Formats: sequence, C-alpha cells, structure tokens
Amino acid sequence: MRRYHVTTFGCQMNAHDSERIKGMLEELGLGEAPSQEDADVLVFNTCTIREKPDQKFAAHLAQAAAVKRRSPDKVIAVGGCYAEAQRGRLFELYPYVDVAFGPGSIPHLGEWLGAGGFGLDRGSFGLEERSFAGELPMHRDRTFQAWVQISMGCNSKCAYCIVPAVRGREVSRRPGDVVAEVTRLAVEGVREVTLLGQNVNSWGRDLAPEIHTEFGELLRACDAVDGIERIRFTSPHPKDFRRPVIEAMADCETVCEHAHLPLQSGSSRILKTMRRTYTRERYFRLVDELRSAIPDLALSTDLIVGFPGETEDDFYDTMAAVEEVGFDSAFTFVYSPRAGTEAAAMQEQIPDDVKRDRIERLVDVVQRTAARRNAERVGRVEEVLVEAPSRTDQTLLRGRTRRNTTVNFSGEAAPGELVDVLIDGATSMTLRGAQAARVAA
Ligand code: 5AD
Ligand code: SF4
Repeated sequence: MRRYHVTTFGCQMNAHDSERIKGMLEELGLGEAPSQEDADVLVFNTCTIREKPDQKFAAHLAQAAAVKRRSPDKVIAVGGCYAEAQRGRLFELYPYVDVAFGPGSIPHLGEWLGAGGFGLDRGSFGLEERSFAGELPMHRDRTFQAWVQISMGCNSKCAYCIVPAVRGREVSRRPGDVVAEVTRLAVEGVREVTLLGQNVNSWGRDLAPEIHTEFGELLRACDAVDGIERIRFTSPHPKDFRRPVIEAMADCETVCEHAHLPLQSGSSRILKTMRRTYTRERYFRLVDELRSAIPDLALSTDLIVGFPGETEDDFYDTMAAVEEVGFDSAFTFVYSPRAGTEAAAMQEQIPDDVKRDRIERLVDVVQRTAARRNAERVGRVEEVLVEAPSRTDQTLLRGRTRRNTTVNFSGEAAPGELVDVLIDGATSMTLRGAQAARVAA
C-alpha cells in the first residue's frame, strides 16, 4: 500500500483542513505513514501569517528535498496559505515540489494526485476554484472532540493580515449543512465541537436574501443537537459581536464560558490604522456586556506589538489593556510585514530591537495577569473534559475546563469523560487538581 504523511503548520483552520486532506488521501487508497521517511506522498499544509511559519516550512522542505534526492519516486505536495501566497513562484523556489494547492482547493487534490495513478501534472489551484471541504471524507485523530468549519475566507481588511488574500472573501456554509455535520459527529461519539471561521460572528450574512440568520441562531441550533456537551467557536471579530450572540452564549448550556476576542492593540490610534474598526473603549464595552451576561467568562486574545507607527505610548496602552481586561491568556506576536498587505507598505516600520523589547515586556504582563486569573480558580470545582495522560507527569490526567484552561489532575477517568476536579494549584498556563466526582457516565 502506498502511504502518505501530512505535516501541518498554522492555525486550527489549517489543522482541520489537514483532516480533510488525510481523508481524501485515504479515499484514494493510501494509508498513513508514521513519518516522512516512510511515506510515498509527503504533504505540507503551510501557513504564511508571519515570517516565522514561512521559515519553518522552508527548513522542513529542505529535508523533504533530501528525501526526494534519495528516492525520486516520492511525491511532494505543498498546500495551504503559503502555497497560495507564493502560487506564482512556488515551483521556481522549490523545483522538487510536484503538486501545489491553495486552502480552497483541497477537494481537487485527488484529481492532481491522479486518482491513485500518480500521473502527475505540475500545477496549482487558486481561489477561483474554492469549495467547502465540509462534505469531503475526513480523518480525525481525536475521537470525542472535533472541528466544524462554518465559513471560509474573510471580508475584513486588517492592514497587517494576509489571510483575505490567501483564503478569499467570506462564504458561509449553510446552517442545515453545519447542523447535519454536528449531528453526525455526535452520533460518532463526539462531545465537544469547535465551530471554525475566520470571523464566526459575521457568519450567515452572505446567505441573505435566501436565508436570514446570524451566528447566535447557529449556536442555538448546535446546542439542540443531542449528545454534544460542549460548543466552542473561534474566532469572533469584536466589531461583529452582537447582542443575539451574547444572548445565545448566555442561554445555551453547551456553549462554553470562553471567548477568544482578538484585541490586537490597546491603542485606538493604532486600531484605526490597523483598520480594526473598533476603538479601545468599544472593545471594553463589549467585554463588560459579555461579562455581565455570562458570569465567569474567560477571555483570551491576540496582541501584536511593533505595528508601523506604534509609539511607546501606544504600546503602553496595550499593556494597560491586558491588566484592565484581565485576560486569562493571550497570544502575543511581533508584527511581521507580509508582502502585498497595506501595512507592509507603511512608513515608520518599527526597528527589530524595539519590537523585541516590547514583546518581552508584553509577555511579562500577560503571564502575570494570567497567573492572577488562574490563581482565582484555586479552591473551586471545575468540570473537566479528560483528554489524555498529562504531558509532564504520566501518573496524572490532562483535560480542559469549560473556560478552556488545561488542568493536570489526579484521578481515574477515561479520555472523553467529563469529571469534576477540585483545583488546588495554578500557574500562568495551567491548573492542578484532584478528581472529585464523575459528572456523566
Ligand atoms: N504580523 C504579526 N501578527 C499577525 N497576525 C496576523 N497577521 C500578523 C502579522 N502580519 C496575528 C493576529 C491574528 C493572529 C492569528 O495572528 O494577532 O489575530
Ligand atoms: Fe491559518 Fe492564517 Fe496561517 Fe492560513 S495564514 S494557516 S489562515 S494562521
């Protein structure tokens, strides 16, 4: 049997795309290989959000090139966002790549791989051929957690971001198709679903006039599916977080008390040049609204330092915002110019040493704030979905709370079970505890 290996970079959307890529390759009769060396078809599902993922991929691909020199029969396929961004010159940059495909063209992968015959034509697909991967076969590594794609693409114009260029304009999946997939997953034993979209809160708008709906309604429809215990979603854009969604979060028992709400900058001036279309004050108002509707809500965020023109005062506003909001966790990024984006052409790019200094200070505030928030959980009982043995101590179990914090705890439960855990310790990243009682069989 011919075998494939998929290496994935980037976000959850990309990880989910990889599940479809694997599913398609299995449909073609290939089996999964444990490593690149053992595979006949090597797939790289790439990311290009910042320069770092680009570099990581280049290092991996150099290794793949060496493998191909030894065994010229191997097929090297490069998919995902980097492939799309470099579509004009990917084969020039990497002459040993056989197949390239963008994030929207996974459904066509089979044709390129010659339906098992490997009669390869070199080529790539672009945005004009996009279609939902939702109906494709899927290979899921996790049995009780699953991603469900609700939209593709993004209509925002954030000045720093390459995503609209590589994933195209937003297209919503039809509500019936989403609910059908969630129902199917529940029947297969999935207990937690994460709804995925570049901007989940604008989901549904493009379905009008045929269907009038919004994301809150979709949350309610998924909440009604039997067997699903937890619903998460990522990512919402603060500008589109409207009342019906907040109400659905508050009303639906399965919707977890967590929102990942990318702030990007705490300075209204920088938010404006980033084209985020909200101010610091409006973001704070949204946080207040969310917290008064959903007590105990956990908030996480994305922050960028060193955006063009960012002064020490602007940066200070970002640090102050972290403390003021009290984020439970935050992903912090150094601004990275992406070719073709508005910000890459801006004057006043920030020197690397200033960016490095700022990210260090920001990480410090983020960690202190997260540690304080986690410490507040000590003494409480949290519902934990058991995922696996702990990474650091095999005698402990690992799982996540509804608020999305990782817990290492002593107890006896199988992966996929929901258990109550009494929290007795906290760091900035994780909680510790001991199992109290079983919540559900
Ligand atoms: N430079 C740095 N960070 C970026 N992000 C997106 N584009 C860039 C860039 N050019 C960050 C944003 C986004 C997250 C997924 O990545 O914070 O929310
Ligand atoms: Fe995900 Fe953006 Fe990276 Fe594409 S470029 S994989 S959408 S993070």
